Amino acid sequence: MIIDPNLLPVPELHAFLLGTIGPRPIAWASTVDKEGNVNLAPYSFFNVFGTKPPTLIFSPAIPRGGRVKDTLQNVMETEEVVINIVDYKIVEQMSLSSTAYPKGTNEFIKAGLTEVPSEKVKPPRVGEAIASYECRVKQVVHLGEDQGAGNLIICEILLGHVKDEVLGEDGKPDPRKADLVARMGGDWYCRANGEALFEIPKPNRNLGIGVDQIPAAIRNSSVLTGNNLGRLGNIEKLPENDAVEAFSSTDEIVALCERFLNDQTGFVNALHNLAKNYLENNQLENAWLTLLQTPKNL
Ligand SMILES: Cc1cc2nc3c(=O)[nH]c(=O)nc-3n(C[C@H](O)[C@H](O)[C@H](O)COP(=O)(O)O)c2cc1C
Repeated sequence: MIIDPNLLPVPELHAFLLGTIGPRPIAWASTVDKEGNVNLAPYSFFNVFGTKPPTLIFSPAIPRGGRVKDTLQNVMETEEVVINIVDYKIVEQMSLSSTAYPKGTNEFIKAGLTEVPSEKVKPPRVGEAIASYECRVKQVVHLGEDQGAGNLIICEILLGHVKDEVLGEDGKPDPRKADLVARMGGDWYCRANGEALFEIPKPNRNLGIGVDQIPAAIRNSSVLTGNNLGRLGNIEKLPENDAVEAFSSTDEIVALCERFLNDQTGFVNALHNLAKNYLENNQLENAWLTLLQTPKNL
């Protein structure tokens, strides 16, 4: 399907964009108006854009009817916001706080949340949130006048609060402890926990050979996936011949040689499956030592 933004009505385009660009983190923004009335609302057009200066941007869009959302109005009046982070245990309260209550309604009260006074700015933070960032609003960029137009609220973090319970032994946030949630399209959310979490060693720690340098017989494997090739291409240097030779006498390779004595295709497929298994267990070197076995080692 081809999406031409000029041909689709705004709600449909919105559904396509939000359904394919995700999961999106959620800025749960607390603000006050110039009279000091507290407001709280979630925004998933949000991310971190720099560390020095520490910069967060989120975007209240112009809704149908063209009213300015309370959050936008408040940040334009006071230039302050606290961005609270949402985890699974408070996701329903976050959702409830997105209700379009009349201006002046305190969604902390509506959603049953604890207001904790901030240290650097007037809006309070959400006591239940695993992290909250007190921010000064540096700039608001209006992207248009029509329904659906974004308004980028560019924020600089003045002070952050992170709950100890989400820190690992190294003192840094541990995703397995945080249980973060994110927004998808429609009414869908996702939860970053359990099997949804996985690690990929950072490729820029070494200079991987790249998929293009993987021997064609391996690159064109019917067993290995694009993900498998991506991980194989992350090796800095292929194992030496001596190591490949030594690996040919491991129990698994010897067993494969015996099983596929006169069946080279079967042998290669079995090698690739074994390598795939090593890759899935983060054993890149063993995966390569497996893949580089050739019938001459039999
Ligand atoms: C998870 C979630 C994410 C949302 N993200 C956005 C967003 O990025 N931009 C937006 O304009 N509205 C977004 N909304 C809708 C606003 O939260 C909603 O319009 C709210 O009533 C605005 O409140 P306010 O007028 O108090 O600022 C989102 C709603 C939910 C539940």
